[in-house]
Amino acid sequence: MVKIAPSILSADFCNLEREIQRVQTADLLHVDVMDGAFVPNITLGLPVVRSIRKHTDMQLDLHLMIDKPVRYVAQFCEAGADLVSVHLESDHPQNIQKALDIMGEYGVKKAVALRPITSPEAILPYIDQLDMVLVMTVEPGFGGQPFIESQLKTITRVWEIIQAHNPSCDLEVDGGINPSTARRVVEAGANVLVVGSALYEAPDLSAAMAALRVTE
Ligand code: DX5
Ligand code: ZN
Repeated sequence: MVKIAPSILSADFCNLEREIQRVQTADLLHVDVMDGAFVPNITLGLPVVRSIRKHTDMQLDLHLMIDKPVRYVAQFCEAGADLVSVHLESDHPQNIQKALDIMGEYGVKKAVALRPITSPEAILPYIDQLDMVLVMTVEPGFGGQPFIESQLKTITRVWEIIQAHNPSCDLEVDGGINPSTARRVVEAGANVLVVGSALYEAPDLSAAMAALRVTE
């Protein structure tokens, strides 16, 4: 089954509770944490995640776009994450492993994320223990960017690696997803779709959500 993960990056942050309620029929709530160093943008951090946790029962899917996430991963787990993604490019492999171990200690689902430039094979050292792999289909940092076509090949390759090593692992895609790209990434093997602008900027959000589900 395909899962939809609305990204609140495209929401109105002054009305976050209402914006979360608008997407509550979705499967996960995708929260983009950016530090202005790993990516050229700053979004939100721990206090906002804690507040979101108090106001929704949705599964919180935290996408950490921060340098050396091992420094903060315990605090994000405590803040109420259900799943955390750390970027493979954000630190040395030992520290990526340490970050995954910390998630395990908290019983939080573990994921690694790949920038478009990163080879799918980079997930091999971690794949056995992962709950999800996140393939970026835009350069991380901003919502509303166009889908990078060449990432379809990466999705296919990541799907093959997942099938060979850990078939219950989810494959999430993030960036430029709309009803038309959704169909193609699902064909390539993705089963979790992060959607920001195509939901929050749609004239009718429920209709946009239904159009994304047609991919199933
Ligand atoms: C970008 C973020 C995405 C972003 C996607 O770095 O990771 O989650 O919100 O936005 P859209 O769906 O507009 O491309
Ligand atoms: Zn994201």
